[in-house]
Amino acid sequence: MEIIVLTGAGVSAESGIPTFRGNNGLWENHRIEDVASPEGWERNPQLVLQFYNERRKKIAEAQPNAAHYALAELEKKHTVKIITQNIDDLHERAGSKNVMHLHGEIFKSRSIKNETVNYDCPGDINIGDIAPDGFQLRPHIVWFGEMVPMMETATHMMHTAEIVLVIGTSMVVYPAASLLYFATPFSTKYIINPEIPEMQKTKNLIFIQKNAGEGVKEIVERLME
Ligand code: OAD
Repeated sequence: MEIIVLTGAGVSAESGIPTFRGNNGLWENHRIEDVASPEGWERNPQLVLQFYNERRKKIAEAQPNAAHYALAELEKKHTVKIITQNIDDLHERAGSKNVMHLHGEIFKSRSIKNETVNYDCPGDINIGDIAPDGFQLRPHIVWFGEMVPMMETATHMMHTAEIVLVIGTSMVVYPAASLLYFATPFSTKYIINPEIPEMQKTKNLIFIQKNAGEGVKEIVERLME
């Protein structure tokens, strides 16, 4: 069976990586628009680099949780494709082989002039660190107001899904949140989240109101039978 998994910050919450919303709109004490937008970068690139340098360190110390491992396990029986909004690498570290990062990756960098070439980035990026094209490096992350280059591919992937798992996302950030609605009405769609997000009506929707660790394990056990 072909299973598409859409994940958001909630899948990594039990690994100790905080989610974005529900915190007065602040992300680790910063306004999201200050650290995740081209305007924020224009105003204070130093702050933006420092912010992501801290996130990178925290993510490197975090470990995949039961939800990440259960999704990797699912590949033993099914074709599993993960489309994540997360910039962490916990799906890969748990063993998932097919992971698309819609909003970029914290362990990659790119030049401010060219978004199509990226580089491995295990450590800090500082002002003055330049890419081979001679321009300043920045994190390979899609900021608010920027295009989501993988969106078209992701949309096509949805058409062939027989089962869709939507795990730990508030479904408020577009275009990512629209992906679910590209799945056919015949596919079964499971929403796994302790707080059921407000969503458009769509056919064959099943809510599992649980944390990812417990909810994903449960559904994966069912799909492995
Ligand atoms: P949000 O912070 O908007 O939503 C996190 C979701 O996870 C919420 O619906 C919570 O109810 C749920 N949640 C919390 N703990 C959970 C747990 N233990 N198990 C399962 N679910 C849990 O995060 P995203 O939807 O991922 O973009 O946010 C989307 C985008 O907005 C992010 O990719 C990021 C952000 O700004 C960029 O950085 C470009």
